[in-house]
Amino acid sequence: MVVTAHPLASVVGADILRRGGNAIDAAVAVQFALAVVYPDAGNIGGGGFLVLRQHDGTLNTLDYREKAPSAAHRDMYLNGQGEVIENLSYKGHLAVGVPGTVDGMVQAHATYGRLPWAQLVQPAVLLADRGFPLTKKEAKKLNEQRKDFIRYNSQSPDFILKDRWRPGDTLHLKDLARTLERIRDQGRAGFYEGQTADLIVAEMKRGTGIITKEDLAAYRAVWRKPVTGQVGDYRVISMPPPSSGGIALIQLLTIAQDYPLQDWGWNTVKSAHLMIEAERRVYADRAKHFGDADFYEVPVKGLLDTTYIKSRMQGYSPKKATSSKEVSAGVPPLPEGPNTTHYAIVDPEGNAVSVTTTLNSSFGSKVFVGGAGFLLNNEMDDFSIKPGYPNSYGLVGEEANAIAPSKRMLSSMTPTILEKDGKLFMVIGAMGGSTIITTVYQIIQNVTRYGFTMQGAVSAGRFHHQWKPNWVLSEWGALGFGTGAGLWLKGHKIVPKYGGIGRAAGILVLPNGQLEGGADPRGDDAAAGF
Ligand code: GLY
Repeated sequence: MVVTAHPLASVVGADILRRGGNAIDAAVAVQFALAVVYPDAGNIGGGGFLVLRQHDGTLNTLDYREKAPSAAHRDMYLNGQGEVIENLSYKGHLAVGVPGTVDGMVQAHATYGRLPWAQLVQPAVLLADRGFPLTKKEAKKLNEQRKDFIRYNSQSPDFILKDRWRPGDTLHLKDLARTLERIRDQGRAGFYEGQTADLIVAEMKRGTGIITKEDLAAYRAVWRKPVTGQVGDYRVISMPPPSSGGIALIQLLTIAQDYPLQDWGWNTVKSAHLMIEAERRVYADRAKHFGDADFYEVPVKGLLDTTYIKSRMQGYSPKKATSSKEVSAGVPPLPEGPNTTHYAIVDPEGNAVSVTTTLNSSFGSKVFVGGAGFLLNNEMDDFSIKPGYPNSYGLVGEEANAIAPSKRMLSSMTPTILEKDGKLFMVIGAMGGSTIITTVYQIIQNVTRYGFTMQGAVSAGRFHHQWKPNWVLSEWGALGFGTGAGLWLKGHKIVPKYGGIGRAAGILVLPNGQLEGGADPRGDDAAAGF
């Protein structure tokens, strides 16, 4: 089964499985297909994280997160007075980190793939070359972005060929098709060297970008040991730094374990209050302690220490909200030695892959590589560009996540796999910036504590707290009038979030071994399988 943000990408992945490909083969094909049919977040100009659990229980994770260019420096988004220059880290050429996706896919395939590389890239080539029909949601988004696409590009991208896209219009992406052909035929070199690299560097020069040929040549994805935690009957397997997601998720699930959420009921005042108060404390830790562990000593073991995690709830009152001003990061036991789209795949052998991949915000920096037809990320905004200054998700950070050359920016992406009794139980993850962690958290709780189906758990309403700002974001109706009023009486400020919180993709292994997909109704998401 394959669950992705776009029906065509799900079909591409399921077809690869049918032809004898394994979960990694399908993941590679889906990644490239999403770069065509779901350009908001599917990408070759961005990055991501992949969590793998093979059918024999062997684990691995792949970090293909973007890196700061070598000419990047701590104060690159500040003016002479030390003030943040608005939007510089968020839109345009200077917002772009060195892309990691193509090297990530090459490495994933070289290590675990079964089918030939070209066969996995070819569906994306065909979709880009022959064109594909726009869904209603995609047509609307392209129309909304038109102004920015014109503003940030001197060479007109295919996305503005029509003044106004309508559902069912066919979008052809000819330049992207040629780039994908180079990747298909030359692998890594088809992106990080030669014509594509030349086009990326030329695009940088047309704007104020700083990515060089050397930066591209030096980019390498990294295999990392997953973070794991036993929470009740479930073993949680997720992404280590530079993602904050895995550790934060384990912290949230561990805290909730001490409270009878299932007796309190789903999204009641009692259970929502507990979850919000836990989120407040976990995100305070995130702001202080999390960054790229290759550059900053993230106290991973300390942050995952059960006694430490439980100590974070000191000061928690079931009666009233704690003010975020009274909550700061904890001091985890120190240190051990030197030390946004999601897709879920399970193949017929039981190998499972959980991938979250992104350009950061929708359509990234809005910059297309002229002549190469793909969008570049705006991942630099995920760094802490000034201590305490909120990024586009309102997240704040400190030294741990300061900009440095070749450093990876902190992420909230939380591709996760759950085991129960040593067997594969769930593959889950989400898009949604800072809300990814709490989205994955609530979905896991929905299934493991409240008995929801996979689809029910993904569809159910969600809420979110991230320490700062001091409010609870809530989807319309997620908390209901009674719960909203009850939380307000405890001192929580509830802010409605129109358009949804996070978008998730999940697969649950049912007791009889069948797979149940959860595709998010907030988007065009779809499950495909056989
Ligand atoms: N760009 C969103 C994240 O990585 O958290």
